Amino acid sequence: MEIKTFGVIGAGQMGNGIAQVAAVSGLDVIMNDINEEFLSRGLNTITKILSRNVEKGKMSAEEKDAVLRRIRISVDIKDMAVADFVVEAATENESLKFGIFKDLDGICEPHVILSTNTSSIPIGRIAAQTKRPEKLIGMHFMNPVPVMKLVEVIRGIATSEETFKATWDLSLKFGKTPAEANDFPGFIANRILMPMINEAVYCLYHSVGTKEDIDTVMKLGMNHPMGPLALADLIGLDTCLAIMETLHDGFKDSKYRPCPLLRKYVEVGWLGRKTGRGFYEYQ
Ligand code: CAA
Repeated sequence: MEIKTFGVIGAGQMGNGIAQVAAVSGLDVIMNDINEEFLSRGLNTITKILSRNVEKGKMSAEEKDAVLRRIRISVDIKDMAVADFVVEAATENESLKFGIFKDLDGICEPHVILSTNTSSIPIGRIAAQTKRPEKLIGMHFMNPVPVMKLVEVIRGIATSEETFKATWDLSLKFGKTPAEANDFPGFIANRILMPMINEAVYCLYHSVGTKEDIDTVMKLGMNHPMGPLALADLIGLDTCLAIMETLHDGFKDSKYRPCPLLRKYVEVGWLGRKTGRGFYEYQ
């Protein structure tokens, strides 16, 4: 089945990035969210990034306009009825995602693959909300989506080979490099990344070093593009905490216990770049 129209649920940080790469790859995109404000914010971000690409000579102004014309916005999830493939990139909240997948299952054609960009919720648990578990799969993009090459493609226990192959091929069409993971808490990316970030927060909590020194050690000593605390601010501290909770609950292993300092920051609303303050302060 050819994929021509690509549906994205969520116009936030991940959703608008996914909509952008899909539209750049030539697909018609429907970007859905719960209100016009979120959608226009998402569309503004895409426009800004594409305009920067035009200024840098990476894209012509005509191409930019054509990409933007391919993105339709929607506040009604029923618009997903015309989508050939859907990725859900809503807030990382289990009951919210379950509701979305129940709706999508009733709205989309039976052959349509429903994928989720979840960073931590088991694919099997989401699949169980639908009558098409063989068409459920994880399509996990990294932030910032237009820049990061990876898509982690996660098979649920019921995911069919056909669904896996279609998702893999779509990731390639988006210019990404897919990697395959199975459905265990945190999959591969966050099983490795989050304990590292959590340990960096413990280093701060135990005063092993300042935030700047912790980040400098990892940047200059390990050649990471940014330090773990700055990266946590980029990802969102609430997301980092939610993923650590998933690892901790899923494995019942104390090595995954979230650092109390991470919890404190989240409780007070210091969630990172999106709220203007996390480990660092932002304009
Ligand atoms: N959107 C689009 N493009 C962006 C961008 C954004 N938000 N941020 C940066 N860029 C582009 C810049 O325009 C620039 O493009 P050109 O090369 O064409 O000029 C390029 O990326 C490099 O940016 P900068 O020069 O401004 O800065 P940098 O070299 O420090 O790169 C970075 C910024 C790409 C964010 C880099 O620091 C990096 O790779 N950091 C690590 C990111 C990472 O680990 N992401 C994964 C997070 S985990 C996750 O997402 C999954 C999860 O489930 C939690």
